[in-house]
Amino acid sequence: MNATLEPPVQAAPNIRRELDADHVCVLTFDRPGSSANLFDAQTLSELDRHLAWIAASGAAGVVLQSAKPSIFIAGADLRALMDAAKRNALPPIIELGQSVFTRLASLPMPTVAAIHGACAGGGLEVALACDYRIATPDAATKIGLPETQLGILPGWGGSARLPRLIGLPAALNVILGGKLHAARQAFKIGIVDALAPRERLLELARKKIRSGKPHRASHFLTNNRLAAAAIAAGVRRVVLKKTRGHYPAQIAALETIANGVSLPLEKALALEREAVVRLASTETCRNLVNLFFQRERARKGPPGEAVQVAVIGAGVMGSAIAQWVSSRGSPVLLRDIDAERVGKGMANAARLYDAGVRRHTFTALEARDGLDRISPIVDEAPLKRARLVIEAAVEKMAVKKQVFARLEELCDRDAILATNTSALSVSALASGLAAPGRVAGLHFFNPVHRMQLVEVIVGVQTEPEVVQHLAAFARRIGKLPVVVKDSPGFLVNRILIPYLMEAGTLFEEGASVTEIDNAMLDFGMPMGPLRLLDEVGLDIATDVAETLGSPSRALAAMRDAGLLGRKSGRGFYLYVQPREKPNADLAPFRRGRENPSRDALRERMVLPMVNEAARCLEEKVVATADDVDFGMVMGTGFAPFRGGPLRYADYAGIASLVSRMKEPCELLKTMAAEGRKFYEDPD
Ligand code: NAI
Repeated sequence: MNATLEPPVQAAPNIRRELDADHVCVLTFDRPGSSANLFDAQTLSELDRHLAWIAASGAAGVVLQSAKPSIFIAGADLRALMDAAKRNALPPIIELGQSVFTRLASLPMPTVAAIHGACAGGGLEVALACDYRIATPDAATKIGLPETQLGILPGWGGSARLPRLIGLPAALNVILGGKLHAARQAFKIGIVDALAPRERLLELARKKIRSGKPHRASHFLTNNRLAAAAIAAGVRRVVLKKTRGHYPAQIAALETIANGVSLPLEKALALEREAVVRLASTETCRNLVNLFFQRERARKGPPGEAVQVAVIGAGVMGSAIAQWVSSRGSPVLLRDIDAERVGKGMANAARLYDAGVRRHTFTALEARDGLDRISPIVDEAPLKRARLVIEAAVEKMAVKKQVFARLEELCDRDAILATNTSALSVSALASGLAAPGRVAGLHFFNPVHRMQLVEVIVGVQTEPEVVQHLAAFARRIGKLPVVVKDSPGFLVNRILIPYLMEAGTLFEEGASVTEIDNAMLDFGMPMGPLRLLDEVGLDIATDVAETLGSPSRALAAMRDAGLLGRKSGRGFYLYVQPREKPNADLAPFRRGRENPSRDALRERMVLPMVNEAARCLEEKVVATADDVDFGMVMGTGFAPFRGGPLRYADYAGIASLVSRMKEPCELLKTMAAEGRKFYEDPD
């Protein structure tokens, strides 16, 4: 074994072993000083030693459980894994995991994974090496193999064992989907054998042990070589269409699993090892894992308390913010100018709760309690108890100034007053108030329940403590905050708008709507820019572009003609049943007949985005390149596998990009001249 895998001497144990009166051996995972259990080399070696002891002990059975309140085993220690990949030292860790789990699978006595809490990646792989998996039906119990989302595949036996347990098609769904499933769903799929409340989980485990080793279906209809090849060919087409070839882990997982399913287990495990080692060294994997760490970082920090919140303006955004905040336990006052509008806002909040119930995000009871936490108010009731006010009234400075002046009179002096403005200056809004230091921006994205990012906007007078409170509040309600300096368009819209306007200009010059959108889908964006404009609304997009000083003529003309996008049924696309189609009547808005290649289109749209992203860093709109990239991936869905516009710039070569830009910013020019990158090399 590689020397680096030797566990540190005298390290505190991660696993406790107890042999009960019935000779059942219970292994309890309890990583010291952490709320999560993880698999690293030390934990794997510990497990190995326990298994060696158990094999010789003649125990009647084995149960694996966790002492943590909401985590069974969260997976592999990703940092250690990526470090090892960097040093070309991954194979020994993969081999160690596989051999320990194979040892577990080969024990002569029945083995049970008793799962409560997150059971992901390596956590599920160890469970798959057990004879039985039983789980609590609690919301904390989430089960799955998310590796392909990180650009790798399950490499500790998951890719080989899952299709043997539930059949190839179902296993491909689970592994290529990369989702974590609720326990009931995992039970339905066949990953979990039985469910029991937490206090009865051990009792059920003992019952399973008494019933002996299981006899399982062989899935010979799908898991033979011919059927597997046919299934793989079909799935391959779907995957390629969806990923446009950008996510190599999906195809690698598909091939590894389909090829391995008809081989002896050891051979399937060898395929898995080889694939995971290869994938872990790709740029895509590094970018996706980095995104995972960025998310973790944004989540870290003290979460705020469940304070009383007031939302001013019950329109699209205000009602959605009220719904989201109330769903996280805070009481919310929702105010608008008359009863009708407040009523509409409440109805929208109720609709969002209903949709959440249909998606199983809430139970019907949770939804009712959440809605009960929102109090509609019409009159200018005093807001003395509100610790935080979120203003989401119309996007007009004069209106917002009036609202804030009244808020100062109605609220407690310590209350934080935040605006959800898309593009107005927070500093200008705060100027003239008695306590401008209490004012900041809290910019949610639409749709609120889907977009995790929240920009915390720091005005020139905003107090640092207010910024901290707002970031903590964002974390408390399950959002990911990024702190942004008050400047036109803040971070995300500022970078997005030049890109959208360039798409508008290309359209005006004659490029086809579908070609423009396809060029950016090929690049890896979740939606083409013209489709996105239709979704946002051409009126709103041109408004913001006008504030930023870069409106597109064609877009303004379309807006004036009432082509607003989805909300008016017509824009670049016609919104007809069963699905939208390109609008064929757009000739009046075009001035040219150029139709550049997709490569040329992509180049025209990507370069302004990269340039603006670099400018944000140059002007210190955010603190780091990481913040820019994280904001763009989370706020706009910027091709996650590319890691963000600045990581993309590093990858594409800054000097080469600069040589193709019309007006590169100073920072990019200097970096190109000095041969610098936004990120250090991985090694
Ligand atoms: P909306 O027009 O749907 O809602 C605005 C609501 O504010 C209306 O119900 C209106 O009656 C109410 N209102 C106006 N004056 C008021 C006052 N003095 N007191 C209380 N309520 C008042 O607008 P939407 O889209 O919800 O936007 C609200 C804010 O959020 C704007 O500042 C907008 O820029 C921002 N925003 C909008 C996004 C979007 O995609 N719609 C995304 C992010 C921010």
